[in-house]
Amino acid sequence: MADFDVIVIGAGPGGYVAAIKAAQLGLKTACVEAGETLGGTCLNVGCIPSKALLHASELYEEAHSGALEKFGIKLSGTKLDLKAMMAEKTKAVGELTGGIEFLFKKNKVEWIKGHAAFESASSISVEGKSYSAKNFIIATGSSVTPLPGVEIDNAKGVIVDSTGALELPKVPKHMVVIGGGVIGLELGSVWRRLGADVTVVEFLDQILPGMDKDIRKDSARIFKKQGFDIKTSTKVTGVETKGKKTTLTVEPAAGGDASKIEADAVLVAIGRKPNTDGLALDKAGLATNDRGQIEVGRDFQTSVSGIYAIGDVTPGPMLAHKAEDEGVAVAEFIAGQTGIVNHDLIPGVVYTHPEIASIGKTEDDLKEAGADYKVGKFPFSANSRAKANRDTDGYVKIIADAESDKVLGVHVISSLAGTLIAEAVIAMEFGATSEDFAYTCHAHPTHAEAIKEAAMAVQGKPIHM
Ligand code: FAD
Ligand code: NAI
Repeated sequence: MADFDVIVIGAGPGGYVAAIKAAQLGLKTACVEAGETLGGTCLNVGCIPSKALLHASELYEEAHSGALEKFGIKLSGTKLDLKAMMAEKTKAVGELTGGIEFLFKKNKVEWIKGHAAFESASSISVEGKSYSAKNFIIATGSSVTPLPGVEIDNAKGVIVDSTGALELPKVPKHMVVIGGGVIGLELGSVWRRLGADVTVVEFLDQILPGMDKDIRKDSARIFKKQGFDIKTSTKVTGVETKGKKTTLTVEPAAGGDASKIEADAVLVAIGRKPNTDGLALDKAGLATNDRGQIEVGRDFQTSVSGIYAIGDVTPGPMLAHKAEDEGVAVAEFIAGQTGIVNHDLIPGVVYTHPEIASIGKTEDDLKEAGADYKVGKFPFSANSRAKANRDTDGYVKIIADAESDKVLGVHVISSLAGTLIAEAVIAMEFGATSEDFAYTCHAHPTHAEAIKEAAMAVQGKPIHM
């Protein structure tokens, strides 16, 4: 008889959610985690500590930059206590990772501490001990993609990855971020707000790959206005550190004359890769695809019966909420139910200021598919609440099918974009048309009214523009 009905490998948002749900469905469940705490990348070195620092640094910038003076709030003598800011972040992380431990106990999920490796398709070994199960869920997540020739050393705090950039001991004078993606812009924002000059070096001709083209262009304009130096179509060809100074050699991506940039901190943020090293997948009869991911079917089962995979280690966007939803669904499948994740409607949010949020198709997706579509846009400069708050950067862009009017994509730049996008996700799950958005009553005065007006603009008839 097997030791467990289900063993989950990895306790990130995919794994810990799958374990709790499986236990709630009456399955005898264990979760193996190699880290010292539960919660994976997201809780320990990802979503949570980055959002804690984004919040704290935003408060600091507001208080310190004189931005509040126009509201009649005069502050003097504001000072940064970086140690205290970091301690508050660590406290939030500890409360949340401890919370998962509590939930494991409450739901009777056994935490097996250590690194798991397959012995066969029906057993794993952890710290020299064997455990068998009827089902395994691989939820081992992802880690930083290295840049060849650039050695990351988070302890030294000079050339760091996202984990190192969450705990720099002091504010750098000049930080160079390699990669103009989500991590580069979020963590670049943190250190810019705390006083660093920040240069972003991006290989492509626009930042934020995968987002709608207008959003990419207009967000870059806003970030530049905030002081970011953004060098697109640029590649780093060399990095040399002497003492505390690092010199980067950069060249136009298409080739051309090289130039030098000096920095006292370099953040490498060029993407993440799935974690399968040391899992001994071959012993279970499994292999990865050419991107290092574990392929799964609609029920999250791999090519080996009884072995499932979810989250960052599988294809799709590397996002915590995608992993969590897959965690619930895979447990339901294992328990004999039908789990549902709509992979066409996974929202993406960049937690800068303003935030950038997106759901569904971009204009480029639709052009590529040869689809006929209509676009409606509404700027926050014409939204009464944004105007009252003096917070008018950004707009809502809605893309709808030209014939059926079904909404295909919603893209938002706004201080509240991450919250606003939830309305669009729900409506799109129910197949809403732009007319449905436009004829739904939105409270006044709220930023959400910009969504209604953008929907009206799809028909060419917004009221306030
Ligand atoms: P992970 O969270 O990576 O967890 C995998 C776990 O498996 C780890 O704890 C690891 O120790 C463990 N493990 C691996 N191999 C083994 C093994 N063989 N045996 C035992 N244990 C093992 N996403 C968002 O949606 N919103 C955000 O705001 C956001 N911010 C981010 C900020 C940063 C700086 C980073 C780096 C990422 C961020 N992400 C964010 C992405 C998010 O963290 C990931 O998508 C999410 O954590 C993936 O969850 P997962 O369960 O697949 O894997
Ligand atoms: P990313 O894929 O978002 O961005 C990486 C960027 O680096 C891209 O713009 C790419 O073109 C560029 N790049 C690649 N190689 C380069 C090179 N040699 N030189 C210069 N630029 C180069 O990856 P990132 O920012 O590392 O984030 C990893 C993952 O973590 C993402 O998939 C994201 O989904 C997730 N994440 C999500 C967050 C959120 O939801 N708010 C926050 C942080 C991370």
